[in-house]
Amino acid sequence: MDKKIIIFNWKMNLADSVESDNGNSNIEMVVCPPFTHIEKVKKLLPLKIKLGAQNCFWENSGAYTGEISPTMLKKLGVEYVIVGHSERRKYMGETDEMINKKVSSGLKAGLKVILCVGEDLTIRKRGQEATKGFVKKQLEKDLKNSKFLILNSKLRNHLVIAYEPVWAISTNKDGRPDTPENALEMIKFIKNTLNSKFQIHNLKVLYGGSVNGKNIKSFVKYKEIDGALVGGASLKKDEVKKIINSIK
Ligand code: PGA
Repeated sequence: MDKKIIIFNWKMNLADSVESDNGNSNIEMVVCPPFTHIEKVKKLLPLKIKLGAQNCFWENSGAYTGEISPTMLKKLGVEYVIVGHSERRKYMGETDEMINKKVSSGLKAGLKVILCVGEDLTIRKRGQEATKGFVKKQLEKDLKNSKFLILNSKLRNHLVIAYEPVWAISTNKDGRPDTPENALEMIKFIKNTLNSKFQIHNLKVLYGGSVNGKNIKSFVKYKEIDGALVGGASLKKDEVKKIINSIK
């Protein structure tokens, strides 16, 4: 069985939930603290737990006050970077064009890019076809001109997609997990789209949105769901433990 990838996204929070030993070789575990704590967390993490960042800019240096570049992250020992999270799309006004640039510069810097896509409640209410249409457009825009990079042999497996319906994120009003069946259908759809549109095969696609120690199994039991992106639950030690232990 391929390893499931579990991303713990602390968002703008500090946590002491880092495991000293993930003790589970079926998981690729990635911890994404805020920028300011990357170095500190790196010292605490056992080697097999990977370090991730929650965002990066698309240029490597220059007059971009407040931004952090992909090469700076790489130098810090960061292996993964989350790009296009719905909170950045919403609060920081990130557009698909900006996200597209971040995907390619992240890949060029040698980072593994976790691209987040997903619909909001208005779209979801329009039904399955509208939802699929929306997500397909996001993928097309966010991955525009990146096919060569993604298929480059050195960067194979460097792109991971996280399907995160915005309404399912725990901090959103009425946030509740998607049903595993719907997440499965959307993830299969994403894989088919990447296959037919970009001839990209075997890409890992994760589910994100109110995942916790109780429900994670119901998602990752499907072989098509390659793991999870965990927000709120990643701040709690016992939840992190449950999540790790539930994947065998
Ligand atoms: P959540 O967050 O697990 O708290 O729903 C997921 C995310 O925003 O990535």
